[in-house]
Order: sequence, then C-alpha cells, then structure tokens
Amino acid sequence: MKSSFFIAVHFFGQALTQATFPVVLNSTFATSGARNVRIDTGTYGPPVEEVHYFYDQWPIGLAVSKTGRIFTCYTRGSYAYTLGEVINETAEAAYPDQVWNTPPQGLSTVSNGITFGSNDEGHFISVQALYVTPDDTLWVLDTGRPTISESGRISMPYAAPGGPKLVAINLTTNSVRKTYTLPPTVHYPDSYMNDLRFDLRSNATESGGGIAYIVDSSNEGRTGFIMIDLATGDSWRQLNQHPSTQAISEDVPSYQGLPFYLRQPGHPLGFQGEGLDGAELDQFGEVMYYSALTTDYLYSIETQYLRANPNNNPLADKRASDNVKNVGQRGGNANGFSGDSLGNVYMLMPEYNAIYIYNYTTQLAVPYIRDPRMVWPDSANVGWDGYIYFTINQLPYQPDWNDGVDGRQYPGLILRSRLPDGASKNTLLM
Ligand SMILES: *[C@@H]1O[C@H](CO)[C@@H](O)[C@H](O)[C@H]1NC(C)=O
Ligand SMILES: *[C@@H]1O[C@H](CO)[C@@H](O)[C@H](O)[C@H]1NC(C)=O
Ligand SMILES: *[C@@H]1O[C@H](CO)[C@@H](O)[C@H](O)[C@H]1NC(C)=O
Ligand SMILES: *[C@@H]1O[C@H](CO)[C@@H](O)[C@H](O)[C@H]1NC(C)=O
Ligand SMILES: *[C@@H]1O[C@H](CO)[C@@H](O)[C@H](O)[C@H]1NC(C)=O
Repeated sequence: MKSSFFIAVHFFGQALTQATFPVVLNSTFATSGARNVRIDTGTYGPPVEEVHYFYDQWPIGLAVSKTGRIFTCYTRGSYAYTLGEVINETAEAAYPDQVWNTPPQGLSTVSNGITFGSNDEGHFISVQALYVTPDDTLWVLDTGRPTISESGRISMPYAAPGGPKLVAINLTTNSVRKTYTLPPTVHYPDSYMNDLRFDLRSNATESGGGIAYIVDSSNEGRTGFIMIDLATGDSWRQLNQHPSTQAISEDVPSYQGLPFYLRQPGHPLGFQGEGLDGAELDQFGEVMYYSALTTDYLYSIETQYLRANPNNNPLADKRASDNVKNVGQRGGNANGFSGDSLGNVYMLMPEYNAIYIYNYTTQLAVPYIRDPRMVWPDSANVGWDGYIYFTINQLPYQPDWNDGVDGRQYPGLILRSRLPDGASKNTLLM
C-alpha cells in the first residue's frame, strides 16, 4: 500500500506538468511478496461497478434513457430477439415486443441461389447499435445482415434494401414512431452499419429535422459515413473508402496478452478486417472524431463536410476527403466511442481493458479507467445520471474468430463508472 501511494504521488506530479489527468492514477502499481516486487494491478481510475449480467445472449450495443431504462442489442444468429430491455439484474426481455423481433419470413432469404439478409422493413433482423436522444427517442440501427451457418461455414449474407434501417421508438409510448430505409446507392449490399450519432438542432440541416451520422464498417472494405436527413428521409455517403475509414491490413492486435488472428472455420487464416467503427461528435456537433477498429490513429472531420450532400453538390466528396485530419496516435486500437457534456471523447481500448479519453483541447489521449473485468469493452453510452455505461462481451473468444470454438464464458456484463468533473449526457445537440 505504501509504495503504491508513492506511485500515485509520482503520477500526480507528472500530471501537473503535463495535461490535466481526468483521474489520479492511484492504483496502476502494487507490490507483492516478501521483497515487494512491483506488479501491474491492471486497474486505475474511479471504481467500475457491475450493473447487469447477461446469461442468455451476448450483448453488442446499449443505450440508457433519461429515466434510467437500459436497452441492449444482440447481433444474431439464432437468438430469440435482437433488441431487448433490461428488466432486472440478470434478465432482459424482447423490446418493444417479441413481434418486432420475429420477422415472419426468417432472417434471410435465398434469391437465384444466393442468400441475402431479409428485406423486412417492419421487423428487426440484427440490431448492432442503439442511441437515446434527449427527446427520449430510442434509435435502433438494424444492419439487415444476420450471421448464418451453411454447411458448417459461418457467413454474413449481403443486405437486401429494406432490411438495413434506422427505427425511432418513442420511449413514452413504446411504439415505433418512424422507420428510415436506405437505397442501394447509399447502403451497399456489403455495407455494415456499426454505430450512430445525432444532431437534432434545427440548423443542422436545411429541412430542420435533424441529422443522423452512421458509420459503415464494411468488412468487405466499402467503408464510410452514411448520413440521413431525419425530416426528408434523404440519405447520402461521405468518405467512401477514404484511408481514414479503412481497416489496417494484416493488423494483429493482442487481447489479454494473446496475439489474435482471425480463424474462421472453412476460411484461410485471416485478419480482423473491420473498418470505421468508433465515432463521436464534439460537444457542439461541429467536429466528428472517428477511427477504424484496427488502427492506433484517431481522425477528425468538421461535420459541415459530412452534412454536405454530394447529390446536390458535385464538389462535396472532394471537400470532405480533403478536410480529414489525422490527429495522431492515441496509444492503441479503439472500439466504440462515447461523449459527455464537457466534451470528453471516450474511446474503448480492448487491448488494454481500458477506456481512454481524447481531450481535443490539449490534443492528447489521457487515461480514464482500466479494469481486469473489461474483457473486450464493446460499446459505451453516457447516461443522464453522470455515469458511462458499457458492455463487455468477450468478442474475440467467439467461435467465428477461433476455429469454431466458443471460448466465451457467461455472464456478459454492463459495467459503469462515474464520469470525471461532474460530467453528464451532452444535451446541447437538441
Ligand atoms: C482512485 O481514485 C479515484 C478518484 O479519486 C477514486 O474514486 C477511487 O476510489 C480510487 N481507487 C482506488 C482503488 O483507490
Ligand atoms: C429477473 O427476471 C427473470 C425473468 O422474469 C426472473 O426469472 C428472475 O427471477 C428475475 N430475477 C430477479 C433477481 O428478480
Ligand atoms: C412521444 O409520445 C408522447 C406521448 O404521446 C408525446 O407527448 C411525445 O411528443 C412523443 N415524443 C416524440 C419525440 O415524438
Ligand atoms: C446552430 O446554432 C448554434 C446556436 O444555437 C450554433 O452554435 C451552431 O454553430 C449552429 N450550427 C450550424 C451548423 O450552423
Ligand atoms: C482538456 O484539457 C483542458 C486543459 O487542461 C481542460 O481545461 C479541459 O477541461 C479538458 N477537457 C476537454 C474536453 O477539453
């Protein structure tokens, strides 16, 4: 204890001469044994609390409402439902009901001998991400691309228009308010919509109804941003296959000290090929910070360039790609992002069981929390209660990445931690 206190003081001393740390690194090191050998505890930052335990389905995304309701989603597969609400510490239930979670024609269809994801606009196929806006709307992002197993080979069929969609649910009435689908010129058959952010201010678009920013992480490589004008339903793309949105080729990350290749049954040895994944707006909605899953670099672009619709302006594409900024390395690969009322950009760091913060004032990454329970932090969401909530799903140990062997062990988790400096949900973008 004594020596770890010394270390804390030492780190704090450094912090004062550099950028301000959001937390005091009070427990990175401890000592062990008769000779006080220094060990890495794998822990720092404010306490990490266990909020929910998953025993039936592995979660991907989550969102917390104004009143503290927690919604989770699950990519599928064979799961009974793909959108759920947490009902107690150990159970969730299909949301808004089982009907929405059960496409009558199944999750996929075969056309001319080729399997496609279902084109059903009125049911959820495979929900990847969720977001709650301050008007208490739950936004549901359905990729329309389930995982299917055909003669022992796991694959993800191409999407059919109608299946990939953005659905708005009113949390007061628990009913679907609006569904947005995308034309094949915006959502390609091999697109994969991974995460979403919103600016609902009337001046964000000409039509005044707000905008959705969606990342396309396409493992097939046609990455980029998809924008939807929420008033007109118009949609367009930006930064198509721009290097900043692409996966790094042949990246070999390490999780829990283990190097990871992609070992899919029936396929040659591969590499994680997911592109654009984490994305978060600055506090004022003027800059988007983003990165691909497999890169150590963080990028940014002013949102005015993403909002420009190339269908109305032939220079919009060029302007967007010319205005991407590489804001440097952040210390590792990052998964999902989140943001708060003070403008902190949280980045989930699966290689380090950690969450880092990018501070765009100092342009530096700083530590926030680290904990051995964070075996693949996947997706994060800041609540109105001053906590950041995040899912833990042990994803690298799933069968599809390990020669068909499922190395995951229930329960999956929702963890939470108090935000620094009294931060809370950012409600400016209303
Ligand atoms: C580390 O410091 C944070 C912030 O001051 C505090 O909340 C937390 O309890 C401390 N953790 C430990 C393990 O001492
Ligand atoms: C949680 O809900 C499930 C499903 O309704 C029920 O079986 C279980 O007993 C509940 N657990 C607790 C701790 O209330
Ligand atoms: C949700 O439904 C309630 C009750 O009908 C209504 O007052 C509210 O305006 C709706 N919210 C939105 C964002 O449409
Ligand atoms: C929208 O209005 C806010 C002030 O309400 C301003 O700060 C912001 O820059 C405006 N955004 C755009 C895109 O004009
Ligand atoms: C970043 O660091 C600056 C300077 O230390 C600090 O004032 C600010 O609160 C931090 N956070 C953000 C989001 O800029």
